[in-house]
Amino acid sequence: MLCSLVIISTAAAAGGLKEGPEAVEKWFEKLTYAKEKLTKLHFYFYDTCSRRSFKRGPEPESKIMGRAQGIYGSDSLEELGILMILNLAFTDVKYNGSTLSVLGHNPFLHEYREMPIVGGSSVFRLARGIATAQTVWYNLTTNNAVVEYTIMVLHY
Ligand SMILES: *[C@@H]1O[C@H](CO)[C@@H](O)[C@H](O)[C@H]1NC(C)=O
Ligand SMILES: *[C@@H]1O[C@H](CO)[C@@H](O)[C@H](O)[C@H]1NC(C)=O
Repeated sequence: MLCSLVIISTAAAAGGLKEGPEAVEKWFEKLTYAKEKLTKLHFYFYDTCSRRSFKRGPEPESKIMGRAQGIYGSDSLEELGILMILNLAFTDVKYNGSTLSVLGHNPFLHEYREMPIVGGSSVFRLARGIATAQTVWYNLTTNNAVVEYTIMVLHY
């Protein structure tokens, strides 16, 4: 639940409206009255050479929720793993234009990987949370993968 002041400010930020510095400053000033809320997101991340997008369901024809913009780097000597710097850019109606930033180590051979959500923009301003990743399938030849993501995120 949010207090009325914050409903106004988040409604303005919803839909990815890009606000100017004064509006952002106002948003921060109203934070004193704001209550954090918890949002759960669940999607399937298509990580292939031709596309990096996340979908509601595991099927390729499932509705796209957004695009993933990111870079991976090899970061581990002991076991296979990557450092993920991932920007989840939402394009579907509810969070259109908002982003979430994931930054963390992904030992992708493990069943569950937990990575921090370190921030966000628009409706996800000042977001923090946890992304849990679980591989659905992975093709060693092509490096293509579908990964199930569950995100628990606190934001205002
Ligand atoms: C998302 O926002 C963009 C830019 O404002 C707009 O062109 C697009 O139609 C919107 N998409 C949806 C699904 O609302
Ligand atoms: C992996 O991709 C290659 C090339 O598209 C394909 O020939 C092969 O059957 C795939 N392997 C699996 C296990 O799906």
